[in-house]
Amino acid sequence: MKDEPTLMRISWKKYESLSLTEKAHYFNEAGRLYHIMIAQQFDRSRMDELGMLATIIRRIAKTEEGIKFLKDLLSHKRAMLYFSQPSSRTFLSFCAACQILGISIGEVRDTATSSEFKGESKEDSVRTFSSYFDLIIMRSEVGGLAERMAWVLSNSERPIPIINAGSGKDQHPTQALLDIYTLQRSFEGNGGIDGKRILFAGDLLRGRTVRSLAWLLTAYRDVKQIFAAPKDLQISEDILAMLDQKKIMYQRIDDFKSLIPEADAIYMTRIQDEWDTQKAGKRNERDISKYSFTGNDLKRLKKSAVILHPLPRRSEISTDVDDDPRAVYWRQMRNGMWIRTALIATIFDRKEMIKAYASYKGIVV
Ligand code: NCD
Repeated sequence: MKDEPTLMRISWKKYESLSLTEKAHYFNEAGRLYHIMIAQQFDRSRMDELGMLATIIRRIAKTEEGIKFLKDLLSHKRAMLYFSQPSSRTFLSFCAACQILGISIGEVRDTATSSEFKGESKEDSVRTFSSYFDLIIMRSEVGGLAERMAWVLSNSERPIPIINAGSGKDQHPTQALLDIYTLQRSFEGNGGIDGKRILFAGDLLRGRTVRSLAWLLTAYRDVKQIFAAPKDLQISEDILAMLDQKKIMYQRIDDFKSLIPEADAIYMTRIQDEWDTQKAGKRNERDISKYSFTGNDLKRLKKSAVILHPLPRRSEISTDVDDDPRAVYWRQMRNGMWIRTALIATIFDRKEMIKAYASYKGIVV
């Protein structure tokens, strides 16, 4: 693996000029996933492999002995959770994933409590974390910041991996991976993800989970992506150009409700109004009833279809939908913990040990 591209051997200027698919080659170490930055790093075999590992881990964790085995795997490692943007599920599921693998954790969730408040740069902050920890998991309101930090660390004397847990309006690769895992599990015994119609609804312009998921779905055969949004919040041109280039079927519509009967999966999102230039605390109230899913809409949904949401939700899914077996968003949330555990185990090269333990215990997937 001597000649594999790494962030160490490229200037920031050259790196910035690359396309996303070109960038994706720069995040491996010794042929293995190292930094987790963008959805473009994941092809179908990587997603299948991760999904399988997540399922094995989930099954191992069903017994006390299995939980102890997992907890021993990385008990010599420490992870830093650096979240300068609000988070519940992503933060907590990464905490839980670290705990499952025995990794100790530290956190900064509010830069007003760190030296950034005194004017320290993000670069210096991240180098500080790398002095004490073996992994950084970061969320930031600044698009592309995680990539910049990965480059900085790869070129420092203490390079450690970084996982992007959501960057600006840009990407959220680990959410998209758990969405894929949820779809894989939902369509088990129903032909898998291939050939399905995925209907996205809501704020598709600023929803970073959709942007990452639209890419991951291109790895599957004959999947049609349908984007239902108000005109000013439609999916952006860069995603459509990517779909065109890969000859993927897609459709942009504003009438969400009419497409419900045709969907195999509906991916709901909230309006990301924190990006509006309004005064803090004042939401840009708009009527989103055309882009919401209610108990009434269940009647028009296929029996085999599923409803996903990265959460948090507001009113775009009414609570009377929650008890329907096709509403999988709570399961989707728990899947996040398993897929993130699988991802961290892969970064630290524990995949084969986990598989060997599972086969010794007769756990088959
Ligand atoms: C999403 C995010 O932060 O991008 N949430 C999440 O990570 N589950 C979606 C959102 O905030 O609406």
